[in-house]
Amino acid sequence: MNARRNTPPPLNVEAIAASLRDSAVGHRILYLPVVTSTMDIARQEAERGAAEGTVVVAEEQTAGRGRFGRQWRSTPRQNLSFSVLLYPSRRTSTRLSSMTPVAVLRAIRTVTGLTATLKWPNDVRLGEKKVCGILVEADFQDSQVRHAILGIGINVNLNPADDPQAYFVATSLAAELGKPVSREELLQAILTELGLAYTHLKEWNRVWDEWCSSLETLGRQVQVRWGDHVEEGVAEDVDSEGNLLLRRADGTLVALAAGEVTFQL
Ligand code: BTN
Repeated sequence: MNARRNTPPPLNVEAIAASLRDSAVGHRILYLPVVTSTMDIARQEAERGAAEGTVVVAEEQTAGRGRFGRQWRSTPRQNLSFSVLLYPSRRTSTRLSSMTPVAVLRAIRTVTGLTATLKWPNDVRLGEKKVCGILVEADFQDSQVRHAILGIGINVNLNPADDPQAYFVATSLAAELGKPVSREELLQAILTELGLAYTHLKEWNRVWDEWCSSLETLGRQVQVRWGDHVEEGVAEDVDSEGNLLLRRADGTLVALAAGEVTFQL
């Protein structure tokens, strides 16, 4: 066995930050081998007044988290786990949950040629399996946004067969492409797309249209769970706030702001 094949190299972020020095996102990248969660470090950075667009990348998270307080696990040196610190206006903050997955879809397309889809609101999928999870956390004071943090976890070179818990529900870019993917190229592409989408709000309509048209959830019979609540019906559309419009069996329509979607047959 070739030991070098078994131990991929650490992520090299210096060239990425240099290439993004004029971009709104990624001009400063903190690379840390092990953290609790990159969300925690990005929050500490915000409290210190760090520059907007600061990125925190870690090889390993001991308390990586997902939506609904779930645990997020990732294999060191194979995937990407990072957070981006922003100071958006209140209006812009409402757009981050759509902007982020669209930036990821665009970057995946550029780097791998693969076309991913979205499970509402922002799970990125290839086929029927999840390849990337996104967590957006915002800190408010009165009605102002003090900061927002985008958390992105992508299975890049993971071999899904190595992770029996994830095997049936998760995939990686390399598994779908049949060859390894450069983590540096992908990170640079995502940060570039995020910077462009965040800066050029004039392009907002394009981002919004792309988010809507990538939602494989629409038209399908789904169950949506949040906390102790469950709704079932046909995912008919999304409204201008990004809420999912669900047509219940009794014909009524309900708008859902958040939830975990499961597809039904
Ligand atoms: C989800 O699908 O539930 C969202 C997962 C988000 C995971 C990323 S990995 C980088 C950042 N740090 C975390 O602790 N979580 C996000």
